[in-house]
Amino acid sequence: MPVSVSKRRPRTSKKTETETSDKSLKDHPTCFKNICSIFSRSVLYRLPLTIFFLFFIYLWSTSTTVISGNVVHICISSRKLNDLYCLTAGSQPGLRVPVNNFTKPFSENLIRSEEEKSVVVLGNDGDKGFSNNETFSGERDSEKSTVGTSLNIIKNETFTGETAGIRVSVLDQDSKPIHEENLDSVLDQDSNPKKETVPDILVDWDSETGEEQYRYIKSKDENEETALKAVDKYLQIQRSWLSTGNNRANPGSCEGKGVYVYDLPSKFNKDLLGECSDMVPWANFCGFFKNDAFGESIEKLGKGWFNTHQYSLEPIFHSRVLKHPCRVYDENQAKLFYVPFYGGIDVLRWHFKNVSMDVKDVLAIEVVKWLGSKKSWRRNSGKDHVFVLGKISWDFRRNDKFSWGSSLLEMQEMKNPTKLLIERNPWEVNDIAIPHPTFFHPKTDDEISSWQNKIIAKPRRHLISFAGGARPGNPDSIRSTLIDQCTSSPNQCRFLNCTDGGCDKPESLMELFQDSEFCLQPPGDSPTRKSVFDSLVSGCIPVIFDPYTAYYQYTWHLPDDHRTYSVYINKEDLKAKKVNVIEKLMSKTLREREDMRSYIVHELLPGLVYGDSNAKFERFHDAFDITMDSLLHKISKNL
Ligand SMILES: *[C@@H]1O[C@H](CO)[C@@H](O)[C@H](O)[C@H]1NC(C)=O
Ligand SMILES: *[C@@H]1O[C@H](CO)[C@@H](O)[C@H](O)[C@H]1NC(C)=O
Ligand SMILES: *[C@@H]1O[C@H](CO)[C@@H](O)[C@H](O)[C@H]1NC(C)=O
Ligand SMILES: *[C@@H]1O[C@H](CO)[C@@H](O)[C@H](O)[C@H]1NC(C)=O
Ligand SMILES: *[C@@H]1O[C@H](CO)[C@@H](O)[C@H](O)[C@H]1NC(C)=O
Repeated sequence: MPVSVSKRRPRTSKKTETETSDKSLKDHPTCFKNICSIFSRSVLYRLPLTIFFLFFIYLWSTSTTVISGNVVHICISSRKLNDLYCLTAGSQPGLRVPVNNFTKPFSENLIRSEEEKSVVVLGNDGDKGFSNNETFSGERDSEKSTVGTSLNIIKNETFTGETAGIRVSVLDQDSKPIHEENLDSVLDQDSNPKKETVPDILVDWDSETGEEQYRYIKSKDENEETALKAVDKYLQIQRSWLSTGNNRANPGSCEGKGVYVYDLPSKFNKDLLGECSDMVPWANFCGFFKNDAFGESIEKLGKGWFNTHQYSLEPIFHSRVLKHPCRVYDENQAKLFYVPFYGGIDVLRWHFKNVSMDVKDVLAIEVVKWLGSKKSWRRNSGKDHVFVLGKISWDFRRNDKFSWGSSLLEMQEMKNPTKLLIERNPWEVNDIAIPHPTFFHPKTDDEISSWQNKIIAKPRRHLISFAGGARPGNPDSIRSTLIDQCTSSPNQCRFLNCTDGGCDKPESLMELFQDSEFCLQPPGDSPTRKSVFDSLVSGCIPVIFDPYTAYYQYTWHLPDDHRTYSVYINKEDLKAKKVNVIEKLMSKTLREREDMRSYIVHELLPGLVYGDSNAKFERFHDAFDITMDSLLHKISKNL
């Protein structure tokens, strides 16, 4: 291919993901079909352009040294291509691998790690710890070798129904000269500069239902609009699966709700935990897998507090599901089949080792094969099966264009089952996001209510806080702007510098959050942040800059109306310096803050934490209960 990309700005992007969210979501099973056909039409129409474009992006991205952010601003929901989903805040996490010396004990790296997804694994140093010349060339080399084939795959892709929804948002400025004529529709940057006054959110009306909708960012073109509509539809579908609490009305009844847990060979789960000392080259994970994977307890924070790693969801969920009151041992009595494969921990082992793609996929392929031998799996083609994958969807969606991660979720067999992830692919309806695990794992109702009482009464000395690090090399990141605004209003805003180790301990972070009214939550290397949940659990109102951080993720655990629990500030406005975060938050009245906090603490908090594996809650439903009830509801609606 003669396309050569000499100039690149790997860390720059202007991407604008627009999102719309219906205020009141209803059940629209038929809308789903409509949207599908709209997609396939628009996709077919744009296929040639898309092919070129993907290929261009592919070449471009493989030529970058550090694919650290926002290289690819294309949102695709095709089955084969979906790793390119709108990574509004980052792209392939952690293609960079540190080769310098990490000497700090890993347990001190938590905040850093929640600071950036990849950094969890990269160690505490994050941005400062490895420089651009330290790159895992092995990964990139292997990508290059697939240049020839990727186009074929794309050409051969049959776009059908739900899998096809393509949207291209905005490319980098630098890419413009290359094939301008083909790209103008997608390069329409900043064509519509907003006026001075920036409303909280734009409101418009759904053309089908006439209902009021919130629009987080204006879409720039038709494609973007189509893709965003798809996001919205998928969210509506997922919300329709949310269990309305009938289970609570009928406690103890497991009629038609049997949960079957496969007894997988231990190489798919327990043995992986056994590799804790060697999971990533510079850190020891063993401490994190203690106490049913809650990690070491943190006495200082009280009962039920642990140093939990953000990627520990798989074993945490597994322990809990083994004790589910509706667990059955006869698969014929089962409604829901739980596959305890620790796919995230599996892939984490390989992220920073120079191994071939085949190696990365060994367990994924084996587990699918193992299931294929089961009648229970074949009976409903996996539709009543669920996987919990404690990492971001992207880590499981390797394809021909990128060598990051495993291809577990790219496998055809994995399409039907429900995948519970800490970050979902917004164009995959069976990808369901559930909360990142926090440090709090209560065992009883009383532990929850005493925590609620404590933080609701807590005097908060800071109006705003931001615990994070800058992204010095990333001009697209809004973090520097936030840090500037924060540090220039020291009376209102407290900045905890994670880059110099300021947030190394969970205690410091939790203290800061408990002491703050608002917690700024800009995207890291991927849109979601564990910190959003830490902040909610501390009663600190999260300030969200990207709808993909939360609004388009946690359909079962966060309500549709984001204003009840968060403040949204459009990051494009922030970037364009049209809004000052401090002023904006200062304008919130005491009443508004109290209403939000009360809602967060009393309504949301219990449902955001994963209780102890022996937990017996009567008054509350924790994140696990909500998830299990909704899964059962989903299956009963879909089978
Ligand atoms: C890493 O740091 C440790 C302790 O500071 C030191 O003993 C060791 O030699 C260093 N390793 C490398 C490769 O620099
Ligand atoms: C790049 O790596 C070399 C050695 O591998 C090191 O001496 C140099 O300082 C690094 N460059 C930067 C910008 O960190
Ligand atoms: C990774 O492994 C391949 C094959 O063994 C080797 O050619 C390559 O140099 C390695 N890359 C790194 C960064 O070690
Ligand atoms: C497309 O797929 C078909 C079968 O699915 C295969 O026979 C053909 O070789 C593929 N074409 C390309 C260009 O890969
Ligand atoms: C945060 O810490 C890093 C490393 O110590 C430092 O370079 C940076 O200037 C600090 N940022 C602020 C805003 O103080």
